[in-house]
Amino acid sequence: MAKSNATTTAKSAKTKGPASSIQPILNQQFDAPKPLQKYGTVSQRLPIGLDEKTRQQSVTQLNQLLADTMTLRDMYKKHHWQVVGPTFYQLHLLYDKHYEEQSTIVDTIAERIQILGGVAIAMAHDVAELTTIPRTPRDREEAPIQVSRLLEAHQIILKNCHDYAKQADEAGDDGTNDVVVSDVMRTNELQVWFVSEHMVDTQLVRSE
Ligand SMILES: [Fe+2]
Repeated sequence: MAKSNATTTAKSAKTKGPASSIQPILNQQFDAPKPLQKYGTVSQRLPIGLDEKTRQQSVTQLNQLLADTMTLRDMYKKHHWQVVGPTFYQLHLLYDKHYEEQSTIVDTIAERIQILGGVAIAMAHDVAELTTIPRTPRDREEAPIQVSRLLEAHQIILKNCHDYAKQADEAGDDGTNDVVVSDVMRTNELQVWFVSEHMVDTQLVRSE
């Protein structure tokens, strides 16, 4: 039904006349031709000195890092909104800082995938299917539980970083190795430090 309406709209916009010349051609997604590139494939469009096998390996691994990083990014915003307790202000600000830093990494990873000739994963439903980070419930949770979930997610990403950086290095994909180490790994390690210190069971006022 939607398809026939779309065809009619597109055709009517092509007819001559002053009114039709300013008519946007709507609903073309219902009669879309084949996609420009299928997800999971790698093109050789850009001459960057890497063979197809290397690009394919890096794109697959970067899409995994991308899905996990988008999940961690969103977990930080969830916790930014829902945090409670005496450390509310510190964690509220820290969570949002880390959210912004993870957002920057997301863009860096996605654009590296496109440079390699791949197709970056983007939408929430696709991210949910691909990520290996355990599902965070919708409920509001205590700060120590939030922090534990964040540290678990960081560790999953960091373990993959070590594996992927080594493989990219061995395959000669220095650019991907650099993104994984300099951008993803370094940022995640720093965030683990800042978040972990909130879990040390120490005296607030009097020393032991
Ligand atoms: Fe906010």
